[in-house]
This record gives sequence, C-alpha cells and structure tokens, in this order.
Amino acid sequence: MSRTSAQWAQNPHLPPTHFVDSKIYTDEDLHKEEIEKIWNKIWLIGCHESEVPNAYDYRTFRHPSGRSLIIIRGEDMKVRAFYNTCSHRGNSIVQDPSGNAKRLTCVFHHWTYNTKGECVDIPREKPGYGERVCKSDMGLREVKSAMGYAGFVWVNIDDACQPLDAFIGDAFEDLQKETSCPMEVFHYHHAVIETNYKLWHDTNRELYHDYMHYHNRLTGLSQKGYFDRTYHTYPNGHVQLDSMEIQYQAYGGEQRELAWPGATKACHKLIDIFPGTTYILRAPSFRVDTMTPLSANKVLIEFRGLGVKADTPEERAERVRWHNALWGPFGLNLHEDLWANEQQTRSMNAAVAEPTFVLHAREENNTTHDEIGMRQYYAEWGRLMGRPPSDPLGRNTASAKQRAGSAA
Ligand code: FES
Ligand SMILES: [Fe+2]
Repeated sequence: MSRTSAQWAQNPHLPPTHFVDSKIYTDEDLHKEEIEKIWNKIWLIGCHESEVPNAYDYRTFRHPSGRSLIIIRGEDMKVRAFYNTCSHRGNSIVQDPSGNAKRLTCVFHHWTYNTKGECVDIPREKPGYGERVCKSDMGLREVKSAMGYAGFVWVNIDDACQPLDAFIGDAFEDLQKETSCPMEVFHYHHAVIETNYKLWHDTNRELYHDYMHYHNRLTGLSQKGYFDRTYHTYPNGHVQLDSMEIQYQAYGGEQRELAWPGATKACHKLIDIFPGTTYILRAPSFRVDTMTPLSANKVLIEFRGLGVKADTPEERAERVRWHNALWGPFGLNLHEDLWANEQQTRSMNAAVAEPTFVLHAREENNTTHDEIGMRQYYAEWGRLMGRPPSDPLGRNTASAKQRAGSAA
C-alpha cells in the first residue's frame, strides 16, 4: 500500500539504531559540526610514501578543515607534515600539488623554512626586528603524522589525538600479511561528486547493492560462498569483511591468476576505516579510497591503485590491467556507485517537509548482506557528534509529539 504524507513521515518500526534521517546527509550546519567534532580530530591519509620517495619530495593535502598541509620528506628521510601557512602573515608557502624543495621559501617576503619546519631565514631580520622577533620562534605549525597500514602517511591536526595504532586497533588483523610488503601507487585519480561523503562510504560498507553492479552480480553474488562471508566490527567505527575467491571468468571468460603476496588467488578483502577510508584488495590489485568532504552535498574522493614495489614489469602490467578494468575511469564498477549516490542526494535535497529515512536494518548473522557495517558507522557518528543519527535535529521526535497531541 502506498503512503500518505503523514505515514511517510512516521519513524520506521525499527530500533533507532537501524535507520537514519536523511538530514544527516544534507544539512549544512550538521556538516560544519562534523568537520569540527570528527574530521578535525581524526587520523586521515594524506598521501602514500611512494608519492614522496626521495629526500625533499613534498605533496600538499587539502585537509577537510580547509587547511592546506605540506607533507615533506626530510634529508633524514623522515616524512613530516605542516600547515602550508607562513608564520609571517599567513600566506600559503607551497602552491604546487607536488614537487621537490630543499628549502620552503614563502614568495611574499621570502621567509624560509627547512624540511623540519624550522624557520631558517628572515630577510633583514635584525634591522627590522632586533631581538623582538627571532627565527627560532617562527617555525611552521607541525601536524602529527605517522606511517603505516600499507605505507600510507597519516596525519592528524589534533595535537591531543590518540596514537594512530590505537585508533586503528585490530582492524587490519586479516590484512596484516597483505599490507606488509612495500607497495607503490601506480594509479591516481580524484573526482568531485555532488553527494555527501557518508553516502559514498556507505557503498563501501554494504554489499547489498551488488545487485546494481552487473559485473558483481555475475562474478560474486551468484557464486558459491558469497553469502558465507562475515563482517567483523572494531572499536572507533571500523569494519572488515571476510574474503572469498571471486570467479572472474563468469564475466568475460578470464580468471585473475596473478596473486598478491600473502593472499589467495582472486581474493576480495575489504576494510573500512571510519570516517571515510576504504582498503579493497581484489587480487591482483589494491585500491584505497580517501575522502575530503567539501560541503554537505559535495565530496572530493581520491582513488589510488597500488602494486607491489618488487613487481616485474609483466606483473605490474597485469595489476594495472585488472585495476583499470574494474576501477579505472572507464571501468565496470565505480561510475555506478557514483551515479547512485548523486541520485540519492538529489532526492534527499528535495524541498519537502517530510523526512526521508535511510534504512540499514538487514540482520543476517553478520554475513555479507547484513548491514552491521553501516550500523557500526552511525553508532560511532552518534557518539562523536552527541546526536542520535535517527533524529539528529530532534524534528521527528517533535513532530511525533505534535501528531500525538493533535490526535488526543
Ligand atoms: S607572508 Fe610569508 S613571508 Fe610574508
Ligand atoms: Fe559498489
């Protein structure tokens, strides 16, 4: 039976842990609060170590706060991160997305910094400042950084944050061997999508939407063992899904024979790190997604494809081929997820009074189509935000009371 406006607006007959109000995806004030309470306090991937392989190599990273960061490898080969903000008058020091620089000189008045963030030169320092301003007090603002989990450089702008290892916990317990070999990025692209970052991440946390992907229907969903996989949940909102051997020959007739070190042939392993990082190993290739929310309805997604550093040219070509077949810009899979997310966003932003509820209510003993991964995510979101995701603005509770009042 179809529903009236009042029926549509009623909370689903589910525990509040099993659905969210779509305002969680569209409200700009909530988005600003998320940046402050979640993104400014959490460990995020800034880049991969193979993207700054040599001394003085740097990359810039746009942090969700809006700050630009410089991630730079020093002559001691240690990678450090700083605000890309000059101590003099706040100009951006580095303009290019990547490069190599022994010294970082701000173009405005030529204050200069080394790779440890120390201010090493102020033009005409003594005549202008005397003893009042001193180089040694004018270093860059360093950002906490740590290397790990497949060779990524993680950053956290909160000086009071917990260590990266404590944040990740045991989430990589099933991917330890596979992420211990030196790796390098062979593919990078990014996309700005008109959707909320959580909707993108949801597509990496639930496999129920495999029905949308023709390729996945043939090569996973309809194969033996697909529904036997288990989701594991970890503190701080992370999840991991058990592997299976995918029969790729069901689509196009060719199986993926090249293995990944420490993994079985054609494995499919998945780890989601709260609030927006995903590791997917589909042997022979690795994909890692990271996100930078730009507004409630816009997100920058960075896609990296990784191979084994010790690959022969033939092995690398094979990894690239399979990576691109599925996840390249003309691949079989990514564009479908992006399309669905943009459709959701358009629908959720409609100027109507009734809420749209988003369900994650499937319970199947934590197996493949159980939506435990989404529930785990929104439980963590609610904890950090101090708001119930099912009614983050209190509007449903208020309107339910109003309805009850007018009925009485
Ligand atoms: S703002 Fe950088 S040197 Fe003046
Ligand atoms: Fe998908």
